Amino acid sequence: MSEQKRIPQHIAIIMDGNGRWAEQHGKERYEGHIAGVEPVRTSLRRAAQLGVKYLTLYAFSTENWGRPQPEVDALMELFCKCIVGELPNFLEEGVRFRAIGERSRFPEQVRNNLDRAEKETAHCERITLIVALNYSSRDEITRAVQRIAARVSRGELRPEEITPQTVSSSLDTAGIPDPDLVIRTSGECRLSNFLLWQSSYAELWFPEVLWPDFTARDFDRAVEEYARRDRRFGLVK
Ligand code: FPP
Repeated sequence: MSEQKRIPQHIAIIMDGNGRWAEQHGKERYEGHIAGVEPVRTSLRRAAQLGVKYLTLYAFSTENWGRPQPEVDALMELFCKCIVGELPNFLEEGVRFRAIGERSRFPEQVRNNLDRAEKETAHCERITLIVALNYSSRDEITRAVQRIAARVSRGELRPEEITPQTVSSSLDTAGIPDPDLVIRTSGECRLSNFLLWQSSYAELWFPEVLWPDFTARDFDRAVEEYARRDRRFGLVK
């Protein structure tokens, strides 16, 4: 594709369909998640090539703890392995790593790996990879409201001084621009508690492809579709 086209600054992806992919291939669900790692690498590479500055991936929701324990354990192991395993590539490729979501519930090793990846890549500037882990919008907004209420009760802020900017800067995504394009694979057309505040004006794209089958071509298609959209932000052209 032409690299001259309008490129989203921030793309967010709901990586859906790993379980169905596994079922279609006669495999266990966790094998679908393992097969979902390569499209993560492919999307990150393609995003960086195109000049996308932020890529957010929804990897584990606050609701996902309710999945069968072996699947949760397999996902924890996969996150642990991938975060540290990919560190040399992140450093080489200029990828800054960030995690959003409430991380205190994660096993210590996962938390340590997240902290380490964030610290070691803090100077990287080509692209920021944001992974949403134990994340849901309602949980994030609730935690933001608690932070704002605490500031009010300490007398640092008056209720009438609270603006949308106060809320944005109290979210886990503080300092990260809102997503321009949200992609959800597997044909499901919903946002499932993902970046609800931040996606107020995002373009949405719901390809049928299951996440493990998502390719650079699919990524390009989403960006091409985005370039065709007419974004008005509630205004008149
Ligand atoms: C949703 O598919 C996918 C997940 C809950 C896990 C996503 C995790 C990965 C792709 C692993 C690699 C990620 C990183 C960031 C290292 P599903 O299981 O809900 O699929 P289904 O709807 O077909 O059952």
